[in-house]
Amino acid sequence: GKVCLAYSGGLDTSIILAWLLDEGYEVVAFMADVGQEEDFDAAREKALKIGATKYVVVDCREDFVNDILFPAVQVNAVYEDIYLLGTSLARPVIAKAQIDVARQEGCFAVSHGCTGKGNDQIRFELAFYALKTDVKVIAPWRLPEFFERFAGRKDLLDYAAEKGIPVAQTKAKPWSTDENQAHISYEAGILEDPDTTPPKDMWKLTVDPMDAPNTPQDLSIDFEVGLPVKVSYEQDGKKVEVTKPIDIFNHVSNLARANGVGRIDIVEDRYINLKSRGCYEQAPLTVLRRAHVDLEGLTLDKEVRALRDQFVTPTYSKLLYNGSYFTPECEFIRSMIKPSQKSVNGTVRVRLYKGNVMILGRSSKTEKLYDPTESSMDELTGFSPIDTSGFIAIQAIRVKKYGDANKNLTL
Ligand code: ARG
Ligand code: SIN
Repeated sequence: GKVCLAYSGGLDTSIILAWLLDEGYEVVAFMADVGQEEDFDAAREKALKIGATKYVVVDCREDFVNDILFPAVQVNAVYEDIYLLGTSLARPVIAKAQIDVARQEGCFAVSHGCTGKGNDQIRFELAFYALKTDVKVIAPWRLPEFFERFAGRKDLLDYAAEKGIPVAQTKAKPWSTDENQAHISYEAGILEDPDTTPPKDMWKLTVDPMDAPNTPQDLSIDFEVGLPVKVSYEQDGKKVEVTKPIDIFNHVSNLARANGVGRIDIVEDRYINLKSRGCYEQAPLTVLRRAHVDLEGLTLDKEVRALRDQFVTPTYSKLLYNGSYFTPECEFIRSMIKPSQKSVNGTVRVRLYKGNVMILGRSSKTEKLYDPTESSMDELTGFSPIDTSGFIAIQAIRVKKYGDANKNLTL
């Protein structure tokens, strides 16, 4: 039978490709273009040389922005306070494309090179099963006949030599990466000691904030219903303005990367209950999320925001992290994003400077929730201070009871 393998061009998935052939399968090598830096032609050549029947690349970049990245901005998605979910967000898109290819090519099974200890195996496989319920999954790193045979790097290299698999001459980096247009992750290897500061040359997508330009980059982002609809800025004395989602995303990305925005270093909790250390560059999401949160301050109703923050944002983020995109609960939570954003229309002006995102100002033509005369310290119109006495008196009912019951309140 035919197997559709998520092929990366690296050593591991090349070994898996050769091993699947050894096991008697026919293999279609699949790659998703999610905006990572990649030599697709070299990967094609390598896959076909090893023995794949076919090599298929699917360009997922626009779907990724429209269906996943922008909604993530719209809901302020974030995991454990700082991880903007760059890897997690790409998984539903890649899994969907892989299943589409599996169907087109008549594959009964899909395969991948995820380890048996991570989040990705869960994300991919749950998505596979939702999208093609009869699919068979071959996860070699969880099969004893595979992981016992390839226990060390030497076993991999020996097999590569035996099968004529070219091994890159460049010394392997002492960490593992996963890249797409929203982010890159660095994990494992020397990073496994959480107290090891990553070397300066690890970071690949962003300029070191200490080397970033001395002049700030200002830009202005327009939102409609909480979604970015326009970005404008000046560069080399010329006005640039883009309105297509993928252009918006990539222009923000380039500016943010050039100004050292979006590097993080965390120890996070994996779904499988292991802790893991990761360093990520998440430049575009950092800027877009910050601007979006800011505009909500001006335009979003207080209680809608509180409910959304308590319920929708953390639930959606956790579902994405845990690989539960294609589930009834995620469909339900997704349906709540847009209704929460009806009023989030306007413009945020942002400054990027040496790793920082600063807000220069915000405005909205449609939203009147913020009324400067109401909250002004200089005006009395539209708001009666006398009413506030009643408001405080009512709030005080409970507070006085608490005070009566606790006569010696201390700090
Ligand atoms: N820890 C991050 C996450 O779970 C990044 C995972 C990176 N994946 C990879 N195959 N290198 O989303
Ligand atoms: C892997 O284990 O394959 C990568 C890391 C992860 O999925 O969490």
